[in-house]
Amino acid sequence: MDTFDAIITRRSTRGYSSAPVERDKLEKIIEAGRFAPSGGNNQTNHFIVVQNPDVLQKLATLAQEAFAKMEVTPETYSSLKTSILLSKKGGYVFHYNAPVLIIVANQKNYGNNMADCAVAVENMMIAANELDLGSCWINQIHWLTEDEKIFACLRSLGLKENERVYASMALGYAKDGKPNRKPLPRKGNEVTYV
Ligand SMILES: Cc1cc2nc3c(=O)[nH]c(=O)nc-3n(C[C@H](O)[C@H](O)[C@H](O)COP(=O)(O)O)c2cc1C
Repeated sequence: MDTFDAIITRRSTRGYSSAPVERDKLEKIIEAGRFAPSGGNNQTNHFIVVQNPDVLQKLATLAQEAFAKMEVTPETYSSLKTSILLSKKGGYVFHYNAPVLIIVANQKNYGNNMADCAVAVENMMIAANELDLGSCWINQIHWLTEDEKIFACLRSLGLKENERVYASMALGYAKDGKPNRKPLPRKGNEVTYV
């Protein structure tokens, strides 16, 4: 698959098999993230690669507990609203039971923190697609990065005191084989050529 095809056919995968991701593929994907550009060549992204099922379960439980305490208002962002409502119901697993969750953090006082994490995640998602692995951007840990229990858990995983999570990515083999590559027509993303 050439680079353009890998970009164009990348879609979010939200159903994963429990098959582990091979170490060489995982390392290649992380390298794709590490080789993303960064503001001023800062290179302050911190990739926390979670494969331990107990830790994945703990993060899901803590996130569900945190979301279940929140209330939905008319201003609540639609995806956050979904997380809150599903958490109140119970059984909510924000990372879709993917065997790998790559948490991307950066320094909280750095102006390009979110941008640097975003370009790294996109690089990793394209690399994953090229390697026949499914991926999905996961925002829940970013929303909860200041939650006391989640922050403590992240600290125990290696997050530094001055770091916060700006993105994360589920990764694994799709439940039904190949990753989701169904074309999604563009309805926005306007282009103005001058
Ligand atoms: C900033 C950002 C946050 C997102 N957060 C989530 C998320 O928390 N959970 C999820 O399932 N998908 C999330 N997505 C994936 C989008 O829903 C998805 O990219 C969009 O619907 C287009 O579909 P596609 O990725 O299959 O092309 C996020 C994407 C971006 C760029």
